[in-house]
Amino acid sequence: MARMRATAVAHPNVALIKYWGKRDDGEANLPAVDSLSITLGAMQSRSTVAFDPEFADDELWLNGRRAPGEQARLTACLDALRSLAGIGWRARVESRNDFPTGAGLASSASGYAALTVAAAAALGIPAGEPRLVDIARIGSGSAPRSLYGGFVRLEQHGEQTRCRSLLAAADWPLEVVVAVTTEAPKATSSRDGMRLSRDSSPYYPAWLQTQPADLAAAEASIATRDFPALAELAEHNCLKMHAVMLTTRPPLLYWSPATLACLQAIQQWRRDGLPVFFTVDAGPQVKAVCEPAAAAEIEQRLAAIPGVLRTIRGGLGEGARLLTGDD
Ligand code: PMV
Repeated sequence: MARMRATAVAHPNVALIKYWGKRDDGEANLPAVDSLSITLGAMQSRSTVAFDPEFADDELWLNGRRAPGEQARLTACLDALRSLAGIGWRARVESRNDFPTGAGLASSASGYAALTVAAAAALGIPAGEPRLVDIARIGSGSAPRSLYGGFVRLEQHGEQTRCRSLLAAADWPLEVVVAVTTEAPKATSSRDGMRLSRDSSPYYPAWLQTQPADLAAAEASIATRDFPALAELAEHNCLKMHAVMLTTRPPLLYWSPATLACLQAIQQWRRDGLPVFFTVDAGPQVKAVCEPAAAAEIEQRLAAIPGVLRTIRGGLGEGARLLTGDD
């Protein structure tokens, strides 16, 4: 039988109501809280997956280099797909990101979303298979959100993850300007950081307890396209997650001086009337979410802040999709 191969693309996403913490340390990678994100059209991961009876083991090539550190979650993800398809062949995965990898820009989310879609297609699994959401989650807890476009809510129901698009990208066309303050990978992975936070931050129980109210309020502000309400809430939820990180032992301080300069500037610009708010993940990059009319101005101002290396600007994106024309 010929080798089976497919290529897919996916965009990273950024959570406005964050996910930080897991239910347990199992391979299933179950999130402790639900989350809400927007999919970012300006950046992209592209994954080609080929299954072949001649391959001895699964291999991941990330941006042209072998990535042995990913072996455990790569094989766990592919095993779940192989068992669905009833095919035992090993795979070679080639993944490329057109943005910094492992630096708080959700490259694992877009990477595993693209990988899941490509590998499923290569194995003949229908695109609508609901278990693909759970399989993407094995790779990265935020990857299921990148399977969808626009505004996405992720809910955990027991062992099962469910995602739904609350609004399509075109229904509330916000823009996002990313201020890149370092291109280096982060010192502590999200996976390790989450475990440390759960085990040591005194704020972790409060984080879990207050998340449902933040989610409900965010969903309401998205339904009414209430930018000021969403802005206040998203910044609050982001800083609450960072409060948990900061009070973890050892502490997780993902910010650089330029990160803080951007946050303070964005707060001032909003007080001055510009429709913009910030969010920051497990890394020093700042994402400024804004209304399209303000995007060029925000990008120019962020680029002028000392320590900002470059900016990436774009609208909201679509969900992960297969590229046709691949053999
Ligand atoms: O998907 P992971 O395991 O890389 O975790 C992502 C966690 C945050 O980006 C910090 C928050 C989020 O909800 O995306």
